[in-house]
Amino acid sequence: MTRAYRFLSPIVLLAAVCSWTPPSALAQGNLNVYCSVQAEWCQAVANEFQRQTGIRVGLTLKGSGETLAQVAAEAANPRGDVWFGGTGDPHLAAAEQNLTLAYKSPNLDRLHDWARRQAEQSGFKTVGIYAGALGFGYNPELLQRKKLPPPTCWRDLVKPEYRDEIQVANPNSSGTAYTAVATIVQLFGEEEAFRYLRQLHRNVNQYTRSGVGPIKAVARGETSISISFMHDGVTEAVAGFPVKIQAPCEGTGFEVGSLSIIKGARNLDSARKFADWALTAAAQKLGAESKQFQVPSNREAQLPPQAPRFADIKLINYDFAKYGSSTERKRLLDRWEKEVNSQAK
Ligand code: F6P
Repeated sequence: MTRAYRFLSPIVLLAAVCSWTPPSALAQGNLNVYCSVQAEWCQAVANEFQRQTGIRVGLTLKGSGETLAQVAAEAANPRGDVWFGGTGDPHLAAAEQNLTLAYKSPNLDRLHDWARRQAEQSGFKTVGIYAGALGFGYNPELLQRKKLPPPTCWRDLVKPEYRDEIQVANPNSSGTAYTAVATIVQLFGEEEAFRYLRQLHRNVNQYTRSGVGPIKAVARGETSISISFMHDGVTEAVAGFPVKIQAPCEGTGFEVGSLSIIKGARNLDSARKFADWALTAAAQKLGAESKQFQVPSNREAQLPPQAPRFADIKLINYDFAKYGSSTERKRLLDRWEKEVNSQAK
């Protein structure tokens, strides 16, 4: 503050500051966004939407499972307006539980089929904004030091040599980890999958709250291997950390990261405006600019060169209807809690 301002009263000073604010930045309403992508992207989206519209954006950052739980807990008195990002399964569960509102954005036509299918499947209560494939991340320096080979298949992760070397999130709070459980069930069949998950449990050193926690631990050299979305491994590698990614040899699941408008949104017009904007190529470019490497859902949005290519990954035909249903989700999570998480190692 320059010396001259020190002599102005706080009210005069506040008036002076306000009078300098560009008109587009004057508040044109509010919007509360629950955001389940990485903080850099959430912040970029909030800043840019606010800059373009003058709508003041409040952000709450939480994982996909946690956000679903919060939206359900607040159903009688909703505090959020829009839920941006996070894996598609819990968005579908929210739609089925009538926690989100149907909205047909005029921009739906600009999206890839997989993103539109997400909308159609939910009665237009959610829509795909990006996609990403599940895989492993590993720290090649740490593995080399421990004389361990990098894993290439899901089956490798349960080998005794990887005891305490692996991190994955908790599927209750994290959509990444729920996608992993649902993927393993779809690949191996449910009984075999739970046998596998119990074996994996012995090799897991920590179940983190958020889905990106494990790959960040790989980057910092705190764990050798993580089960992560492959694009999150690219983010760490691009930031200069010793991280490599691997698509599992047996095949793998993927997410349709989604957006939903929360039922009872207090700022409904702003929420619809935000949904329309988030489906444009210009808004989706903010992902890559924030060093996030998911596949954007707008057909005109560019895929950054470093992003994992779906064509190079063996993908399963992930059953979104089944694993996005609330009863199936609850059943699998209860079973995981009882038969895996609560077991001694
Ligand atoms: O932002 C990175 C990301 O992996 C998204 O692609 C995904 O939708 C989200 O995180 C899932 O986060 P969580 O596992 O914490 O729910």
